[in-house]
Amino acid sequence: MSHLHPTERPAPPGPDPGRTDLLVRRSARLAVDDIDFGAFAACPLDADALRCLRYMHDVESHTICYLRDLLVTAAHRDPHVTAFLACWSYEEHWHGDAIGRVLAAHGEAAGTSRAAALRLTLPRRDRLRPLLFSLGSALSPHVVAVHMAWGAVNEWTTQAGYGRLAARAGHPVLAELLRRIMKQEGRHIDFYTAEACRRLDASAGARRLCRVALQRAWGPVGSGIMPAQEVAIVARYLFGGDAGRAAACRVDRQIDRMSGLQGLHLVERAVGAASRRARSRPVPAAGLSDRASGRASRNRAMAASS
Ligand SMILES: [Fe+2]
Ligand SMILES: [Fe+2]
Repeated sequence: MSHLHPTERPAPPGPDPGRTDLLVRRSARLAVDDIDFGAFAACPLDADALRCLRYMHDVESHTICYLRDLLVTAAHRDPHVTAFLACWSYEEHWHGDAIGRVLAAHGEAAGTSRAAALRLTLPRRDRLRPLLFSLGSALSPHVVAVHMAWGAVNEWTTQAGYGRLAARAGHPVLAELLRRIMKQEGRHIDFYTAEACRRLDASAGARRLCRVALQRAWGPVGSGIMPAQEVAIVARYLFGGDAGRAAACRVDRQIDRMSGLQGLHLVERAVGAASRRARSRPVPAAGLSDRASGRASRNRAMAASS
């Protein structure tokens, strides 16, 4: 006989403490001491890849602000989630730092000065986010499930984006750096996916809320803080063309495997919308066209010979 009050829900199966423990113990600052950042002086990246890296630097460096919004929800009551988040934000910080070193090697602003400039331009609604997240968490027991599913989608998309950038830039030093970042993103994917799946599997309410939230509010990673035109250009650069579309569809198929989230086509639709937006407006000078620049060709030649 159940002793639950009629309005109470049975708790979802507990987290796997071994998995969280392993993730936390493996967490580390990204190893870059042996990355030859000096190689960019002899063989710089082209304007398109640099533009993409600026975007990635800014979004990775903003992770601590995303953490602010997560911790005002019921997520802070789950010690497995908070142990992961502590390591997650640390690792993401160093992703931003490593990308910043690539930008600095090209004479570009990076690090705290760049992050400070971005934070001055955040929309006014950014100040309301902790309030909205806190309120949402008070009203629904499924907000943490939404965060976990949202995190899985973002980490899949980010990892796929780095893979696409490595392929498009054709620079062996950048490719090695991104390979290391992608490996850590893979661990973030493992955690978010497992946490999302166990919550979605246990609750029809969580499935409904996640589906509606993703369908109505999800946008490409960074779209909450970056200018819309920049989001469109970077999305088209990474996920346009046959190989890009295939990568976007692979992410959508991963989302399809989570309970209640089948058939959303989130990434495919976002890329389609971004492409239409990028086409409808002139691309500024540092644009991300599909042109094969001399630099990219040299980089590929360097990759082939290494
Ligand atoms: Fe990252
Ligand atoms: Fe990540």
